[in-house]
Amino acid sequence: MKLAVVGGGSTYTPELIDGFARLRDTLPVSELVLIDPAADRLELVGGLARRIFARQGHPGRITTTADLDAGVEGADAVLLQLRIGGQAARLQDETWPLECGCVGQETTGAGGLAKALRTVPVVLDIAERVRRASPDAWIIDFTNPVGIVTRALLQAGHRAVGLCNVAIGLQRKFAALLEVDPSGIHLDHVGLNHLTWELGVRKGGPDGEDLLPGLLTAHGGAIATDLRLPRAVLDRLGVVPSYYLRYFYAHDEVVRELGSKPSRAAEVAAMERELLALYADPALDEKPALLAKRGGAFYSEAAVDLAAALLGDGSGTSPVQVVNTRNAGTLPFLPDDAVIEVQARIEGAGGPGGPGPVPVPLAVPRLDPLYAGLISHVTAYEDLALDAALRGGRERVFRALLAHPLVGQFDLAEGLTERLLAHNKEYLAWA
Ligand code: G6P
Ligand code: MN
Repeated sequence: MKLAVVGGGSTYTPELIDGFARLRDTLPVSELVLIDPAADRLELVGGLARRIFARQGHPGRITTTADLDAGVEGADAVLLQLRIGGQAARLQDETWPLECGCVGQETTGAGGLAKALRTVPVVLDIAERVRRASPDAWIIDFTNPVGIVTRALLQAGHRAVGLCNVAIGLQRKFAALLEVDPSGIHLDHVGLNHLTWELGVRKGGPDGEDLLPGLLTAHGGAIATDLRLPRAVLDRLGVVPSYYLRYFYAHDEVVRELGSKPSRAAEVAAMERELLALYADPALDEKPALLAKRGGAFYSEAAVDLAAALLGDGSGTSPVQVVNTRNAGTLPFLPDDAVIEVQARIEGAGGPGGPGPVPVPLAVPRLDPLYAGLISHVTAYEDLALDAALRGGRERVFRALLAHPLVGQFDLAEGLTERLLAHNKEYLAWA
């Protein structure tokens, strides 16, 4: 099996490689191509990747290239994990919204829109080239904002699925608290990427006993501390919101906090320098502990599980996984072509010549309007954000911002539009 990673020079890549090495029985990778335009990073990351495979006795071949078309040729799956403009652009996304009293974050709010505008055209171009070089390849998108990017890919007819590590992170956390194996825990996970709630924590499978009430009673404090939300939020809702909901439920508090401490982009940029220095050491042949301080924990395990379910015979992996995929009636209050993040069964016609498995969302019981309302609101924003990313234009940017539940006011949307365009001119041909 051949896999290609676009953005393979990312400091995150050793996380992925470690997962491929450990889980090689689940996902037998024979060839792995790391693709990246940054030659120096690619060399460092590629070197460490080969040493990790060698240490673990993995027989797969790892190659590196800046040539996208050659790299994806014949791939069974292509993972996208890129960040246009790197941490420098992220720093902008986290900074200028604060001048308007709004959250500065790379996927939520106005910063997330800036990232979508920079990213969608590039990802669509990459996907077209993947389609030409390897028409049957699955595109697994970890590139943020995952919901909007996945919708762009699906709308353009690509064989794509979006992936985020929030759900697997919570699954691992809950399993540890309950002292059970993570494979025995299933989450009733629902919402949009970075806008999700765990409505249930089930034992054994999607139909198992709901352990959430007991989990909240016994460990609500620890979970709340982890999410940096008051425990009362969990007790009163009776569900577990993802930590991205903090930008909504505690918006003003977060804005005050962000204004008074170094940005996450600056923190991550410093960590990246340190990581690259570590990767340059020829004696290092495992993923360094420092990598655990990045937000992408368990990303590799989620990616291995998903790729194995999509490409393999399904053995050794769970048939039900949390993915970003087409709504198709799952949440009846959203358009069919909206992209939602839910549990899906990876099923369908495999076998030679068959179309292969596809993710089919599990049924979701009628949602409390408390969650359905916010999901609808953000879906409308995502719709307008994608329109702005595909067609450009100042007014489209303004409309997307005005539609966002964390913006909403005319003058605010205007001030944010000005700043977004001023800070992203070099990425937006039309601006
Ligand atoms: C989590 C999110 C990702 C995001 C990452 C940021 O993993 O699910 O979508 O990219 O956090 O982590 P960082 O270490 O860059 O702040
Ligand atoms: Mn994510």
